[in-house]
Amino acid sequence: MSTVTGVTGVTVRAPAKVNLQLFVGPLRDDGYHDLVNVFQSVSVYDEVTVSPAERLRVTVHGDDGIGTRAVPRDRTNLAAEAVAILAARTGRPPNVEISIRKRIPVAGGMAGGSADAAAALVACDELWQTGLGDRELGDLGARLGSDVPFMLMGGTAVGYGRGELLEPLAGPERFHWVFVRAETGLSTAEVYQAHSRSRASAGGGAALPPGPTTGLTHALVRGDARRLGAELKNDLHPTVFKLRPELEHLLGLGQEVAAAGAVVSGTGPTCAFLASSEEHADIMRRHLSQITGSERVLVAHGPVPGIERVPP
Ligand code: C5P
Repeated sequence: MSTVTGVTGVTVRAPAKVNLQLFVGPLRDDGYHDLVNVFQSVSVYDEVTVSPAERLRVTVHGDDGIGTRAVPRDRTNLAAEAVAILAARTGRPPNVEISIRKRIPVAGGMAGGSADAAAALVACDELWQTGLGDRELGDLGARLGSDVPFMLMGGTAVGYGRGELLEPLAGPERFHWVFVRAETGLSTAEVYQAHSRSRASAGGGAALPPGPTTGLTHALVRGDARRLGAELKNDLHPTVFKLRPELEHLLGLGQEVAAAGAVVSGTGPTCAFLASSEEHADIMRRHLSQITGSERVLVAHGPVPGIERVPP
């Protein structure tokens, strides 16, 4: 390890996200889709430490079960790209060691890569004392990926455009989730491309709504899990079910465990089951663990704040 002695690192933790509503509009000229994308940060965290080093290095730790082995250890890692982009913006060499402790399933539709990029941006911003404001960090984040601005913000928010133009949603109440991850991940780009092809062959698709449903915004404010469950929506379901037919069956287990609602998170393949209380989440965890194996099941709550510093 090439940490420069005397200068300590900065550690932050970054939460995963679940998508409460994902409406997908037509393909744009720039290769992205316009979205109405409601994100919520949930209490599954990756931890990222940046420390001064002689050159940019990436180390990754974590369970192989969540796909850690697939995370790049070179400059193509999104956290390394984040450091490079911040270094270029502030005119310094990107000489840090980035150490990533993974807990968010890799390529799971929970924005683990975007979480690591957002975490690396915030940690390096702190380490280098760049003085850039939240807005500029958000702009740099948007260059790294459509979900990165939300990962910087946290809480519950709706993303417009390709998902990067955010409006926070009021939602003071805590919701309880059970997630079932898949054995192998899905590529975000591939899911969107497959969605585009089926939309084109069906002669277009429904128009993008102006925003989240009013039922969703009411449920968030009132902490009404049953109502929120009924409002969960993902336009990518048909595409994801075509790519992974077993997920349709998995989501159907939501009825067996009396989930308030069940949805594929983002481009999947992680399935999210909304509980009606913390106790109910525990009951669902036990049932789903029996069916899928406990190593695939995660319990979390949301909304939680975005990136937070972990004290040394
Ligand atoms: O923004 P990000 O790099 O995470 O997106 C990965 C890929 O997902 C894009 O290259 C694009 O193919 C697809 N995508 C999309 N529409 C969006 C967001 C992502 O088609 N709004």
